[in-house]
Amino acid sequence: MSDTIRITGGKPLTGEITVRGAKNFVSKAMVASLLGDGPSILHNTPDIRDVGVVTGLLELHGAKVTYDAPSGALTVDPTTVASAEICDVSVHAGSSRIPILFCGPLLHRLGEAVIPDLGGCRIGERPVDFHLEILQKFGAVVEELGDGIRLSAPNGLHGIKYRLNYPSVGATEQLLLTAVRAEGMTRLENAAVEPEIKDLIDLLQKMGAVISVETDRSVTIEGVTQMHGYEHISLTDRIEAASWAAAALATRGDVFVHGAQQRTMAMFLNVFRKVGGEFEVREHGINFRHPGGELRSIALQTDVHPGFMTDWQQPLVVALTQAKGLSIVHETVYEQRFGFTDALVKMGANIQLYRECLGDTACRFGQLNFKHSAAISGPTPLHAADIDVPDLRGGFSHLIAALAAEGTSTVTGVGIIDRGYENFRDKLAALGASFE
Ligand code: EPU
Repeated sequence: MSDTIRITGGKPLTGEITVRGAKNFVSKAMVASLLGDGPSILHNTPDIRDVGVVTGLLELHGAKVTYDAPSGALTVDPTTVASAEICDVSVHAGSSRIPILFCGPLLHRLGEAVIPDLGGCRIGERPVDFHLEILQKFGAVVEELGDGIRLSAPNGLHGIKYRLNYPSVGATEQLLLTAVRAEGMTRLENAAVEPEIKDLIDLLQKMGAVISVETDRSVTIEGVTQMHGYEHISLTDRIEAASWAAAALATRGDVFVHGAQQRTMAMFLNVFRKVGGEFEVREHGINFRHPGGELRSIALQTDVHPGFMTDWQQPLVVALTQAKGLSIVHETVYEQRFGFTDALVKMGANIQLYRECLGDTACRFGQLNFKHSAAISGPTPLHAADIDVPDLRGGFSHLIAALAAEGTSTVTGVGIIDRGYENFRDKLAALGASFE
């Protein structure tokens, strides 16, 4: 498929699209299937590249994976799982951050794990120090290879007490996927509590795990010796749903997103309303529209759940270029997530980046040298430009900007968007976008 799209913008997006399972849950659910002693089936699985990457890694380890894209049914049979070599798994080096989550399940199953160098969007340093510390506390021995790491568990894995310095999504998942079959009790404090993590906990419970979650971000896991396959329906991708909502707002459009769920998007819906967008929650999705007139500026900061997600920030910023007045966005999850704004400025947006924490809360990046706050002053009409996609969410934001801009923009590198947005070209066509 071509990596370049030419979009003629200035036309409202109108119509209906469907959003299926969440990229940031489905990939973890696929890894969790390695913990079971029989096949698992995941429904509502989207046809995105990250699913392909995890499928490839599972197959390299001898698991049998089948996927029926139209129905979204994905099965993983882990009964024939075997160790893989670093030279084999390295074909997936740099393609995703999911491989690090294979550690616990593979250690339980095979006593060793070989993990390639990680990938994922370049939106900050994104270290895995929490992951490795957690695994070592459980009893894993980590050996650095030139192109990845090898882990072993000579004395098995044993429950731990751990407090995260920051409620990291991936580190919480690492701990869950390791603790469920470790010997004894594990207690995690300051855990991430994103809806995708709650869905993972539900799924692990279906498999036989014993997990209790308290209201203060603490999680207790009682290790079990055996787990079985699951059947589960993935929650909807709330990042994709919000991205289409932001596209409706930025283009003065009206889009019904089948599958969008109010309970996972509360903070986004609040912000959408405050900036002047209208939405209506219906039985099978949410309708997002620009009601006409001017949008309002807003001050917000991204945060861990239940705050405003960092992944909603980039699409929304495009809509904020069309709001009257000065908007402030303080990014507190990743230190370098405003790189995508260069292209918006090139298209006529008025955006200034600051190293300081703008707004009323200081974050852990405040004393560091990262431009992690943005002041957006609008409304500024956007004009067409040639732009290159920097990362997944920034890339989708560039599409939104091109859709909102007068004239024809050329957007290169759009293949990266296939990592997390299912059939986005078909959806653009369904919403009446002019592109080739
Ligand atoms: N962090 C550390 N050390 C660690 C782990 C994380 O310092 O060992 C820091 C990170 O550098 C970052 C912060 O903690 O500054 C939060 O990172 P987190 O671990 O929560 O993120 P993640 O698990 O790597 C997932 C999603 C991201 C999403 C974040 C936050 C997946 C595959 N990725 O990343 O999604 O932004 O949680 O909700 O689930 C995306 O979909 O585009 C995306 C980037």
